[in-house]
Amino acid sequence: MSTRAPVRGLLVTVEGGEGAGKSTLVALLAGRAHEAGVDVVACREPGGTALGERLRAALLDDDRVTTGPAPEAELLLFAAARAQLVAEVLRPALASGSLVICDRYQDSTVAYQHGGRGLDRALVAAVNRAATGGLSPDLTLLLDISPAAGLARAGRAGDYMEREAIAFHERVGACYRELAAEEPQRWLVLDARDPPALLAERAWQRIGRVLPASRQQARGR
Ligand code: TMP
Repeated sequence: MSTRAPVRGLLVTVEGGEGAGKSTLVALLAGRAHEAGVDVVACREPGGTALGERLRAALLDDDRVTTGPAPEAELLLFAAARAQLVAEVLRPALASGSLVICDRYQDSTVAYQHGGRGLDRALVAAVNRAATGGLSPDLTLLLDISPAAGLARAGRAGDYMEREAIAFHERVGACYRELAAEEPQRWLVLDARDPPALLAERAWQRIGRVLPASRQQARGR
């Protein structure tokens, strides 16, 4: 068993279906944190490490990937990228007290591989536990959007996941809403149709309520 440094920072994850505006929100929140003098690390999944970016490219950016891997292979590849991100980026950043804002995390796997693909939820939970070592988000922001609106917004031919049937994306969205309802204290559900600046303001206020006291002082508010 490896010994792990105690977690002192704050892990905020951003979730949602295709075209929900996650990357814009992450960038705006990282900017707010910088302005407030809060140490912030922004990352994305799959990705955020050399290995993770290679897995992302193999899964999502390769035009030869037309149908996608077998569901179990897909589950394990996303988990592999996550395990690397946790070890290489998240744990060190949290141990040094940073605010970490991650574009997708373990709830994506529940929503897409359980909700969307229909893999057993207990299997997905076990794989998530293996990948994260139990590191759960302190706060999760859900950018809720209808698949039709999100896919139209994404506005391109898309990777194999974006080309899944609308029913797949409906199941992903429904699973996200179920997860948020199961743990309302962890989730903040935002209407992704609201202007990005308003979404960032609401998210930042919520982050401010959960930031450790030491970080609050750094923000100088
Ligand atoms: P995005 O970050 O641009 O939204 O692309 C990531 C894609 O990968 C998106 O279609 C969701 C999918 N995905 C999963 O299916 N499971 C996962 O665990 C993660 C992190 C992403």
